[in-house]
Amino acid sequence: MKQKLWKNKVIYQIFPRSFYDSDNDGNGDIRGIINKLNYLSDLGIDAIWLCPVYDTDFADAGYDVKNYKSIWKIFGDLNDFEELTRKAKLLNINIIMDIVLNHVSSKHPWFKKACLSSKNIEHNYFIWRDKLSKNEKANSIFGGSAWEYVKSVDKYYFHLFSKEQVDLNWEHPDTIKAMADIIDFWYKLGVRGFRLDAIKHISKVFPDGKNNDFSWGPTAVKQLQKFNEIAFKDKKDIFILGESSGISKAEAIKYGTGKQKISSNFYNFAWWSIGWGKETGRNGYDPSWDYKDFLLKMKSFQESKKIPPDLMTNFLSNHDTSRAISRWGDENIFHNESAKTLALLQFSLKGIPCIYYGEEIGMLNPKFLSKNEFKDVDALNAYKLLVGKRKIYSDSEMTKYLNINGRDNSRTPMSWSDDINAGFNDGHLPWIKNGFDYKTNNVKKQLKDKDSILNFYKKIIKIRNSNKYKKILVDGESKMQLLNNGAFKITRKYNDKKIIVIVNLQKIYVKFKNLDYGKKIISSWSDNKKSKNILRPYESIMFLE
Ligand code: GLC
Repeated sequence: MKQKLWKNKVIYQIFPRSFYDSDNDGNGDIRGIINKLNYLSDLGIDAIWLCPVYDTDFADAGYDVKNYKSIWKIFGDLNDFEELTRKAKLLNINIIMDIVLNHVSSKHPWFKKACLSSKNIEHNYFIWRDKLSKNEKANSIFGGSAWEYVKSVDKYYFHLFSKEQVDLNWEHPDTIKAMADIIDFWYKLGVRGFRLDAIKHISKVFPDGKNNDFSWGPTAVKQLQKFNEIAFKDKKDIFILGESSGISKAEAIKYGTGKQKISSNFYNFAWWSIGWGKETGRNGYDPSWDYKDFLLKMKSFQESKKIPPDLMTNFLSNHDTSRAISRWGDENIFHNESAKTLALLQFSLKGIPCIYYGEEIGMLNPKFLSKNEFKDVDALNAYKLLVGKRKIYSDSEMTKYLNINGRDNSRTPMSWSDDINAGFNDGHLPWIKNGFDYKTNNVKKQLKDKDSILNFYKKIIKIRNSNKYKKILVDGESKMQLLNNGAFKITRKYNDKKIIVIVNLQKIYVKFKNLDYGKKIISSWSDNKKSKNILRPYESIMFLE
């Protein structure tokens, strides 16, 4: 079968520790993913992006890599991995590997050697200071100072994320070669997609005494282009997904097309901070968030002629945010409709859709009862910093806000059935708590229900793939308009063919003079009730004009 172009594919993201636990040890694993390949193929996806599966201490969910050419033993081994790529390929599914370029684990052999003596060559692979100036301001993204003292060499090393994630010095030529070599290793094992983690941070400037978010430093383009040249020059059949959180439209165009290109695709972060705390990000909450932001923040990406259909990957949730429906939809009566509306919105846009595991059944945030139930380093640091040190939140307030936006919400075991542990395994306590709703909301149940969220996802993927609509939905130009009644109108146009999607993202009735935009293709409400002038709560419809 002819390989689809990447712009036509649908990506599915897996957080491996929570997908399916094949050996009942409380942790998901590679064999678990192999077991579920038929399910994924049936869903209709074309590629699996695997969050890191390398040897790790899991200090930051695997983004602290101890050995880039290994599989964490909890997840299996390289034979399992090879079997995964081979079996996935038979189903026309590609594997996208998460390549952590900016930092390595503090237990990585390079860093261990670097700490033994400053004369060791590996010492130069990292960023060091003998002394910190009094007004040193560099902060870690997870809170606190970005510098950590090492007694054996009497120096401080730099870590933009947790102290277990040591930033690499990309000015050193060995770094680029070593990372390119990792790409080669996985390519030989059948991997054809590479997500480049946190690439905007690899080149850093350290302005004395000033805050800096260490983004797109002066040598970033030069270094990443060099890396691309070595890593990818003789690999034509690959896909590169750059992760640069909060990337703007101008940056996406600059770094994704033309002379300064460093990645062929970027993850679109337009929506990810909607509802986050103004000052405290995903460790806080902004109750005054406005649904209109879905349109306002996405519109310029959609309407720009300089953004081709394969430049951006659109997502609702991922391992760095909480569950989309709990954040923006309705967990109760309109669960089904709000999940479908969000899916319809995502699949109506120009760009490659990426579904986060569990999203296809409308999984919800699990409800953590107290600090003890959280696992994420960012959440635990937030208690230390925002409750302990800065006293911005009380302990219980922190728990509430992390239950809304914290990352652990989207890292809980996949709800496969209403059996013990949601069918994630045979009963061993999972590494993180289960969702509260799996008895009523799970894959087994939704497979049987033709109007389920899962079957909606299957339909919308089929629509995107169909000869009739593919050109319009993939290649068509895109316009987003806020109507006077508060609904969104998305127009996709290819030659003289048009698809119009009317989206009601609110839990209210929205009135229209005339709702007849053409032939109905799919709708978020499953009954076939026809109305000429009212959209019900979270009712969204795709029409062929
Ligand atoms: C990326 C990952 C995130 C991780 C960070 C550091 O942003 O998506 O999960 O914490 O990089 O590796």
